[in-house]
Amino acid sequence: MKKILVTSLLLIGFVSFSQQNTIDQKVDALLNKMTIEEKIGQLNQYSGDNQATGPITINPNKESEIKQGLIGSMLNVLGTKYTRQYQELAMQSRLKIPLLFGQDVIHGYKTSFPIPLAEAASWDLDAMELSARITATEAAASGIHWTFAPMVDISRDPRWGRVMEGAGEDTYLASRIAYARVKGFQGKLGDLNSVMACVKHFAAYGAAIGGRDYNSVDMSERMLWETYLPPFKSALDAGAATIMNSFNDLNGVPATGNKYLLRDILKGKWDFQGFVVSDWGSIGEMVAHGYVKDSKEAAFAAITAGTDMDMESNAYRHNLAQLVKENQISIELIDDAVKRIMRKKFELGLFDDPYKYSNAKREQKEINNPEHRKISREVAAKSIVLLKNKNSLLPLSKNTKKIAFIGPMVKEHKANMGFWAVDLPNIDYDKGIVSQWQGLQNKVGKNTELLYAKGCEVEGYNKQGFAEAVATAMKADVVIMSIGERWNMSGEAKSRSNIHLPGVQEDLVKAIQATGKPVVVLINAGRPLVFNWTADNIPSILYTWWLGSEAGNAIADVLFGDYNPSAKLPMTFPRDEGQIPIYYNHFSTGRPAADETATHYVSAYIDLKNSPKYPFGFGLSYTQFDYAALKLSKTKIKENETIEVSFELKNSGEVMGEEVVQLYLHDQVGSVIRPVIELKDFQKIKLNPGETKTIYFTIDREKLSFYDKDLNWIAEPGDFDLMIGSSSKDIRLRSAFELFKK
Ligand code: GLC
Repeated sequence: MKKILVTSLLLIGFVSFSQQNTIDQKVDALLNKMTIEEKIGQLNQYSGDNQATGPITINPNKESEIKQGLIGSMLNVLGTKYTRQYQELAMQSRLKIPLLFGQDVIHGYKTSFPIPLAEAASWDLDAMELSARITATEAAASGIHWTFAPMVDISRDPRWGRVMEGAGEDTYLASRIAYARVKGFQGKLGDLNSVMACVKHFAAYGAAIGGRDYNSVDMSERMLWETYLPPFKSALDAGAATIMNSFNDLNGVPATGNKYLLRDILKGKWDFQGFVVSDWGSIGEMVAHGYVKDSKEAAFAAITAGTDMDMESNAYRHNLAQLVKENQISIELIDDAVKRIMRKKFELGLFDDPYKYSNAKREQKEINNPEHRKISREVAAKSIVLLKNKNSLLPLSKNTKKIAFIGPMVKEHKANMGFWAVDLPNIDYDKGIVSQWQGLQNKVGKNTELLYAKGCEVEGYNKQGFAEAVATAMKADVVIMSIGERWNMSGEAKSRSNIHLPGVQEDLVKAIQATGKPVVVLINAGRPLVFNWTADNIPSILYTWWLGSEAGNAIADVLFGDYNPSAKLPMTFPRDEGQIPIYYNHFSTGRPAADETATHYVSAYIDLKNSPKYPFGFGLSYTQFDYAALKLSKTKIKENETIEVSFELKNSGEVMGEEVVQLYLHDQVGSVIRPVIELKDFQKIKLNPGETKTIYFTIDREKLSFYDKDLNWIAEPGDFDLMIGSSSKDIRLRSAFELFKK
């Protein structure tokens, strides 16, 4: 038996090696036929006209350039019809090299899923992989070969609008999510329902100073390696085919032309074999950065640093041939970039069939089908965070006589998709997206009367709708309010200096609360917001982010208890912008505040509590979970030994529920100081009422390691605190152990 196994493994290895070898041979053969113009064409990417995701440069010669083989890839070309049209042009070129079609299919294609930050709140890796799988299936059925996702930028600053696109503030959680999403998007590359992933933005884009998009990033190499790079490495470990670099400069060098990032780390230490695409125009933008004098120097800086494909800046098209002619760069540099891109076109099977993904029949069958929407609804429900539920007002009874649903989000449809939704042409989103009002109508029985009032707009100071809203509330037994950000107040180029609830929405909440009716508030947003009065005075609050196609139904499932909320915050929620950056895994300082009110010569604000409004990992349930009987197999270990940790988790409430149990460590003393608490593992556990389960974690050297001042990845002897929590601030079990020298 063993012999058969070994033989078959060797055979599989040989086949895949020989396949790759064949592809390499084909690439080399093709490369030898290409003119330098055709080679540079493969490094050139233009946007189509279906969706503008950047400052579009109108190029009237696009089609003729495709026929001349001067464009290798397009983005923002949606659907089998348009991708086929463009591909037909490419098939008229001399060498018939197929185009690559890329698209920001970030959280769903036609079936829209929750924004990534919302999905991250589910802490459900299987759900996120499935969401990416369905997204890839629909995109691939619509002619797309390549999604510009997952975005894995760590961010500790909710003023930055793109937090909506990532997995929050924690490196460990974001790394696990990055791996799952790449697996989901790529499946087996070349399959009909897989697309290439593009892990972005390399690197440290989420650390933009002031949370202001595109702003500079300045940090130590140690911080870069410890906090911002691991999710990229995790995505590459999952096999990510491509990487996109970021707009920001890192320590004074734009990421697009940053040899340390692209040559030393990515293509050097990590031996990345895929290709790097610039972000939109980021090559040309190195002029604006003041890093290069002109487009020609920008092209030189980018190609020598290791950016392979030029999205929309034309720098490569207009300058690379001249740079070779002047012997400023070697043709081998261009050949390497071309080979990286061509390998992917072969792996996708595009040379065998350039129209492989542009099949109208399959498109019709695959996209937005009931099965996909059902899963979108489930993922959405898993992403909703229960922030408060005083006196168990939730879940509501389906026999409630009169429910008032008040607020500017109640009857929105398309807004529920949030930013970075694929804006498909000729779609009636009012039919395609379940509004929160419709979700309620679908849920309640015929004995329930639903009342509606908008109350106010998201922004602006007009309170004329308040009177009607109050009068509506007075007629009801319970009031649900849906408020928050407009869908495009988070996203790219959407940094906000003020992340309070916009407009007069919180005044509306106060007016409704004053009626004395029981109130539930839903907050829709792409980032943590500040809403202290609501948080302190409203009995039940659900953070509903932007949940996609089935938003209304998913919210209703949670409101009425058909799904017991299980999500946990992937980002810290500040009390005020003044606390930012605020994150859970901070250092102690020499004068740590003993509690949230201490201010006497300690590291704290004298005008605000020294704690977040809601901590990382926080989220409530309609049931309760008890943690007990923590056991460690050892409390002293040598470097390569492990500790088996176990404890009992019980659902002591009345309804089935899921709990995200979080394993945290604190390395008490280090050659560089260590965070007061760090997430090192988690599990999402489903338990029936009264059920108890033993949960196991393993502590290994990896979990004890960090980058020392010389960037060595090491575990140092010493004492560690071990914590098991329901959030980073709600520690239920504690222990300690020692790592000692050999
Ligand atoms: C945008 C974004 C990037 C996106 C690209 C193409 O500017 O920064 O995330 O993938 O351009 O739309």
